[in-house]
Amino acid sequence: MSTVLTPELTAHWDEADSFTLAGYRRAGGYQALPRALAMQPDAVIAAVKESGLRGRGGAGFPTGMKWGFIPQGDNKPHYLVINADESEPGTCKDIPTMLANPHALVEGAVIAAYAIRANKAFIYVRGEVLHVIRRLHHAVAEAYDAGYLGPDILGSGFDLDLVVHAGAGAYECGEETALLDSLEGKRGQPRLKPPFPAIEGLYACPTVVNNVESIASVPAIIKNGAAAFAALGTERSKGFGIFSLSGHVTTPGQYEAPLGVTLRELLSIAGGVRRGHMLKFWTPGGSSTPILTHEHLDTPLDFEGIGAAGSMLGTRALQIFDETTCVVRAVLRWMQFYKHESCGKCTPCREGTYWTVQVLDSLENGQGSAADLDKLLDICDNILGRSFCPFGDGAISPIVSSIKYFRDEYIEHVKRGACPFDPAAATTFSESWRSR
Ligand SMILES: Cc1cc2nc3c(=O)[nH]c(=O)nc-3n(C[C@H](O)[C@H](O)[C@H](O)COP(=O)(O)O)c2cc1C
Ligand code: SF4
Repeated sequence: MSTVLTPELTAHWDEADSFTLAGYRRAGGYQALPRALAMQPDAVIAAVKESGLRGRGGAGFPTGMKWGFIPQGDNKPHYLVINADESEPGTCKDIPTMLANPHALVEGAVIAAYAIRANKAFIYVRGEVLHVIRRLHHAVAEAYDAGYLGPDILGSGFDLDLVVHAGAGAYECGEETALLDSLEGKRGQPRLKPPFPAIEGLYACPTVVNNVESIASVPAIIKNGAAAFAALGTERSKGFGIFSLSGHVTTPGQYEAPLGVTLRELLSIAGGVRRGHMLKFWTPGGSSTPILTHEHLDTPLDFEGIGAAGSMLGTRALQIFDETTCVVRAVLRWMQFYKHESCGKCTPCREGTYWTVQVLDSLENGQGSAADLDKLLDICDNILGRSFCPFGDGAISPIVSSIKYFRDEYIEHVKRGACPFDPAAATTFSESWRSR
């Protein structure tokens, strides 16, 4: 495993015009597109399969395999839909990618659409990020003017229209089937699967839904070769990826590295946990991935390593919390988010997230009892595996994992009848925690 950063998507972010066509071309952009268009579409799919690229939106499904599921010769329109809804707490890689390097996404979209034989593609972007939406519109307009979009792209005979669609701001619209319903103008709630989008997706036609970073990684695979991508990372988690460090870290930001890098290595590049403090807990991939602790500093940040540690790689959103953080308060805050964002379609998630907030709120304010921990775990048990979509399973991750690692801290709230991190408390719990 290399400890060296491998900037590819992020390599030119610090250049003033990185987001323009001229800036992207100067950095080697749009060299992959003519190569891809000179290949057979199936050869493009084969190259992406060979690279080992796995979806960067959370679940890690192999991208080339997903493209290969699109039926051919079916006389139906095919669609490419890029998931740019990025709304998970802690996840913040796609928005800067689209701000600083939108043409990598546009070039990747043209290659991906060519491979799956789609003539229409959509970028479904989170509605709140107006500045990003403007950048995308600008990049798309530049690409049309340069002949990278529209009819007969670069004289290849391939046509593609790319539409930037702003959502209305709902976390659940990042779930791929809720996204498709929302794009069709319906309420953003998930669909029953099967049928999967590859068979019946947008307007009941074969559709590939891919994350921004997945698609933006494709030009590098075509330009540098699948083998160059596959040479990075670990055995089953190939390539580079953006790791987003936030929270109590000296230099928060986006660090692009091979999958399999460890948090210890990333922290050493990022200046460590903020000065004078120590790591207490962290998320490997956003708030829906179970928290980990200092015991996991050397766990490889790849799909298998983090899975074996009892969590998920998710979106590589590494939120760092030091010893001054009350874990109960942090979990309460996350659960308030999930309660608010639950789409309401199924009872376990709609009612369960509401009740977890009630119980956590009373625990955090010192009005809870030890039995509340069992109650919380029981509610989680009724959400896990019983919800209509993966939102429910993700929502309970912070609760179950925090009770696993910090049960004593929950009990301390009960014993004191107050939050031990409350400045009004006689001794600060964080100091006692430091001396362990
Ligand atoms: C509640 C929820 C929110 C999601 N939000 C996003 C998102 O913002 N962006 C994203 O790419 N995938 C998101 N996903 C995952 C998508 O459903 C889907 O797996 C992904 O877009 C597939 O792309 P990939 O194969 O390139 O990773 C979310 C899933 C769930 C359950
Ligand atoms: S788990 Fe159920 S209520 Fe929650 S977001 Fe999914 S469908 Fe909606």
